[in-house]
Amino acid sequence: MRLQGKRALITGAARGIGLAFAEAYTREGARVAIADINIDRAREAAANLPGAMAVQMDVTRQDSIEAAVAEVENAWGGIDILVNNAALFEAAPIVEITRASFDKLFAVNVAGVFFTTQAVAKGMIARGQGGKIINMASQAGRRGEPFVAVYCATKAAVISFTQSAGLNLIRHGINVNAIAPGVVDGEHWDGVDAEFARLENRPLGEKKRLVGESVPFGRMGTADDLTGMAIFLATPEADYIVAQTYGVDGGNWMA
Ligand SMILES: NC(=O)c1ccc[n+]([C@@H]2O[C@H](COP(=O)([O-])OP(=O)(O)OC[C@H]3O[C@@H](n4cnc5c(N)ncnc54)[C@H](O)[C@@H]3O)[C@@H](O)[C@H]2O)c1
Repeated sequence: MRLQGKRALITGAARGIGLAFAEAYTREGARVAIADINIDRAREAAANLPGAMAVQMDVTRQDSIEAAVAEVENAWGGIDILVNNAALFEAAPIVEITRASFDKLFAVNVAGVFFTTQAVAKGMIARGQGGKIINMASQAGRRGEPFVAVYCATKAAVISFTQSAGLNLIRHGINVNAIAPGVVDGEHWDGVDAEFARLENRPLGEKKRLVGESVPFGRMGTADDLTGMAIFLATPEADYIVAQTYGVDGGNWMA
């Protein structure tokens, strides 16, 4: 029960890694707001988690961010932990990237992280009890990939924002850090696999098998492989950790 009494908001928590974090935080004693653009799945997820609430939230819209944060603060009196997890992925060769795709990915993956952090940090500062903010980056933010320029750039921006926000907010006792996963199996990667099947002319499932085999640990990650770091960064044990991005990727990026 390392998060007993804590109040967490996780964006994009209706499925995948965000949902696994919501389950792990609940097991550790926290109440979790499952904030997602897909409110039906958020409600389904919250119904299975003691103390959880579902919140409609589109991280690309300022009014939606502010309404969702206010709803949770009004219900619980504040937010102690924010996980900026919602993100989109699209792949294309450089000459086929559209402005619409670029704008959409930057709106969710970058502006969403900036302005959700801002909205939640304001309340944390006002209450004066500090807080923990954890951003979901990616190994993709630490290197280029031939078909993934936009997503890689958004995740590099998340790592950069984690550094600046971490340095600015630690004076208020707010730790901002990030997790950089490698390849994590789930619905998200089903979509990635389908995109690579089209781009690289492969049968469905082949890209997944190949990326899994190339991870030094010997397989793709699961969402549960990441929960230890997500819990740790939300506890007082991580109080002296500021502006860092931790790889939790089975050795993938190092290789
Ligand atoms: N799965 C991987 O291999 C992997 C690897 C590295 C990093 N990551 C990162 O981890 C995080 C979670 O990944 P995942 O695999 O669970 O993704 P996912 O696609 O399964 O889940 C993303 C969630 O975000 C929600 N969402 C999308 N747009 C939104 C918006 N505008 N406002 C609010 N919610 C929105 C979706 O409805 C969905 O529930 C993401 O930041 C992703 O970039 C994932």
